[in-house]
Order: sequence, then C-alpha cells, then structure tokens
Amino acid sequence: MQFARRTDAIRAFQVMELMDRARRLEARGMDVVHMEVGEPDFISADPILEAGRAAIAAGHTGYTSALGLPALRQALADYYRDHHAVALDPQRVVITAGASGALMLLSALLLESGDELLLADPGYPCNRYIPLFAGAVPRLVAVGPETAYQLNADLAAARWSERTCGMLVATPANPTGSVLARDDLAALAELAVAKQSWLLVDEIYQGLVYPAELGALPADAKHGVVAADRVGTVLQLVTDPDAPLFVLNSFSKYFGMTGWRIGWMVVPESAVTPLERLAQNFYIAPSSIGQHAALAALGGPAMAVHEQRRRAFCDRRNRLVAGLRELGFGVPLVPEGAFYVYAELPEALRQAGIDSPAFCGQLLEQHGVAATPGTDFGEYRADAHVRFAYTADMERIEVALERIAAAMAAFTYAL
Ligand SMILES: Cc1ncc(COP(=O)(O)O)c(C=O)c1O
Repeated sequence: MQFARRTDAIRAFQVMELMDRARRLEARGMDVVHMEVGEPDFISADPILEAGRAAIAAGHTGYTSALGLPALRQALADYYRDHHAVALDPQRVVITAGASGALMLLSALLLESGDELLLADPGYPCNRYIPLFAGAVPRLVAVGPETAYQLNADLAAARWSERTCGMLVATPANPTGSVLARDDLAALAELAVAKQSWLLVDEIYQGLVYPAELGALPADAKHGVVAADRVGTVLQLVTDPDAPLFVLNSFSKYFGMTGWRIGWMVVPESAVTPLERLAQNFYIAPSSIGQHAALAALGGPAMAVHEQRRRAFCDRRNRLVAGLRELGFGVPLVPEGAFYVYAELPEALRQAGIDSPAFCGQLLEQHGVAATPGTDFGEYRADAHVRFAYTADMERIEVALERIAAAMAAFTYAL
C-alpha cells in the first residue's frame, strides 16, 4: 500500500521503542527504573479526579464550543492575573487538545508551503514535525551551554533567510530544562516584530521552575518564577494584544494531566476567529470531561498539590544533577525547569566511540535504567547526550544512580 510521502520525514520517537523494550524486559522479571518518559509520575491531583467524575455524573459528555468552555477560558485569564500579574482578555485564550493540538492549529494558520521556521537543536521533536507536516521547513539552529541551550535573537538573525516566517522557542525547554532570560525573550519578541514575522513560545513547563543553583526551593517561592531575571510568561513582556506572539501551554505537565488531553494557547485577537474555524473542522472541540477537570486544576486545593510536587521535582533535580556530575557526566548548567537533565556522556566513553544510543541500550538491557538518547531531540552533538527524566521518586533515583555507576564501570572495564 502507498502512503502519503509527507509522512516519511516524521520519525518515530526512539523513546517509545525504548519503552517497549523496557516493558518486554519487565515482563521477563527485570526491574527497570523509568527515566525515559516526559510525563509526571504523579497521577492527577484528587480535586481534578473528583471534578472529572462529577462531570461524568452530571452528564457533561457533549461537544463544547470549539474554542473551549467559556468558564475555562475565563479561569485561565484569572490564572494569568492572579499568578503572573498579566491582564488578559479571555477571548484570546483558546482551549485545545493538548499543546500538540494547539501547534497543529497554529501550523495550519500560519505556515505556507516552503516557509522556514527557526527552532533550537536540541528541542522537542514534535515542535519541528508538526510544522513540517504543514509543508514548512524547520531550520534547526545548534545551541549549547553558551546560550543556555536556547535560540536567541542574534542566532536567529544570523540564520534568517527570505523564507523565514517565524521562530518557535520553548521555555522551560525539553530536553534541557533551560529557561530563557527575560532580556533574551524580549529580544526575540522584538525581532519577530522587526522582521514582520511571528514568535511562538511553548510554555508547557510553566510552573515547573527551580533555583538556578542546586538547592531547595525557598519556602516563600512564588508560583511560576524564582529568579529576578526570569519571567513566568512572555505575556509579561508583550502586552499588545495584536503583537505577533502565540503562546502554547497545557495542563499536561505542571498540572499533571497528560492523559486528559487539554491544552491552551493565547493568541492575537485577530487570530481567534480563524482558529475557531480550524478547530471546528479538525476536531470540533477538546474533550468536555477533560475541560471540566482542568477547571479544578486551577483551583486553590489542586494548586497546593501542584506546588508540593514542584518541590519534590526540585529535590530530585538537585540529587540527580549532583549524582550525574559525580559520575563524570557533563551538566554545565543546572536545569532551571521542566523535569529533565540533559547530560553529556563522560569523556572516556565518548573517546572510546560509545554514543548515546549504544549507552542507553546497554544501560537498559544490562542495568535496568531507561533513559532517552539525545538523538531523539535533534542532530547537534545529540549522540553525546542522554536525557534523564526525574519522573521517578527519590528512592528510585538513588537506585538509578547506583546502576548508572555500575554501567560506567562495566563500560570502562570493557575498554
Ligand atoms: C516542549 C513540549 N511541548 C509540547 C508538548 C506536548 O504536550 P501535550 O500535547 O501533552 O500538551 C510536550 C510534551 O512532552 C513538550 O515537551
């Protein structure tokens, strides 16, 4: 059977293949520490589960408006007001089927065939594959610790071509957990205006932010931001409702709702009506039960649980970064957000020609730790990096570190 050629360029996640291998090993009785998947190990907080059950009991099982429940759009505007001091017209908030659904709509809205889009390498793979599917050409810009693993205005300007139509950045980022500094974000937004293009900011890890140095989250840490030169959202910097800025977000990560498939975006006023048309035609509406549950995710009781979990993630980050560094992995910058450590393989292994797919394969098969090779996230020095997700509790992280040490010893012995 012949399938459309446009699907050929879209690669499978190696992490999925790795998960399958891990499951097969577990079925054979092996204990595996899972550090490969990008989703919280916590299930949704109780108030969310209760709201989901209540929505079913009340029969909220029909379609909603394509733009989402008005109450949820309003609750998100209130969230920006209360937690980020941003005044937002709820009409600019569009509820979607996850941030993935949001990017599909935006790709359909913004991209002409052949348009070029600038993105950081390493980066989240779907953020390039979804625009690619829409006919655009993702241009990957190699980034490293010198720019905090982020695309910045200088790098973007240097790569700009006459076909470049916009930029997509993620902050905090996957796989590096790096956060764009306030000035860098502002400069990107200014470049977008100067070039008559647009800027997409993926803020899906918003809320999962920690101090820039290893250490516990201060007792009085505010939601959404910890450092003076960081912002909780780009919307604090760009207040013009007609600015060419699109913010993608989701209930998946901080709010622990990956499987409910609810996300949102904040868009310029003029984009709302065309996006409504697209959403109606693509999927009619996001899940109604999911939206009712998401309303509870923004309430005080659930937010208290989310903040507790953020603290747990921060403690895990501290332990994992320190442990990996002790083992010789390169972690030049402490990741300030999300739940990932993007670590460079120790020098001895790299010199012996061991790349991250080989390392991750061996680490899983022989030692029972699943982690994702950097090659899932781009090309630039990808085979020298591994992404460890700290979506396992502290006890399991200790087990993982012991096993990684054993893997290192086995590799070194074999050399
Ligand atoms: C950077 C980034 N953006 C977007 C997504 C998509 O998330 P969802 O569709 O669950 O909202 C992910 C998921 O891992 C991600 O890491």
